[in-house]
Amino acid sequence: MSMTDTIKEMFSSTPEVGSLQDLFLEQLKDVYDAEHRLLDALTEMAEESTNTKLQRGFEKHRTQTETHVTRLESIFEMMGVEPERKTCNAIKGLIAEADEVIEEAEGNVRDAGLIASAQAVEHYEIARYGTLKQWAETLGMREAVKLLDATLKEELATDTSLTELAESTVNPSAFAADLLGKGNTTTARSTSRS
Ligand SMILES: [Fe+2]
Ligand SMILES: [Fe+2]
Repeated sequence: MSMTDTIKEMFSSTPEVGSLQDLFLEQLKDVYDAEHRLLDALTEMAEESTNTKLQRGFEKHRTQTETHVTRLESIFEMMGVEPERKTCNAIKGLIAEADEVIEEAEGNVRDAGLIASAQAVEHYEIARYGTLKQWAETLGMREAVKLLDATLKEELATDTSLTELAESTVNPSAFAADLLGKGNTTTARSTSRS
């Protein structure tokens, strides 16, 4: 080995995430954190929505989210590691946007905004669980594939039912508020100023 190669070797370090399994574990920690944050967020979204069906939908998905957490814990266990949360900045941002909707809108308009926020969250989860499921398949983690697929299906079903509720009830009701001139006047005014 030449002197240059020896020096190169001394300064090169093994990457922290050096394998697909490492990457899988890091992503698992990210989504584990996301699901925990969503437990609180879904409680708030249920409390702050005005449509009864939407409230029930958020409550139902909160219960499912508890299962999402325990499924992830089972996968950590399968891998022989302690469950660990790694801050999910994406979900933090999406929850902050949902909080803005709650602050800025009321009634049916708020409900329409909360559905939009919830669907952004579901789409994020669908992307994450889709990737994790595929990585688990590649890594030959059959039991993990089953658990990730079960959660993925619930995220997809939630997204579909949110679309149905928006189209059938919430969006037309929010639009009726426009017709009656009961839309969010604060927002309307600030928009016309800009
Ligand atoms: Fe979830
Ligand atoms: Fe979800």
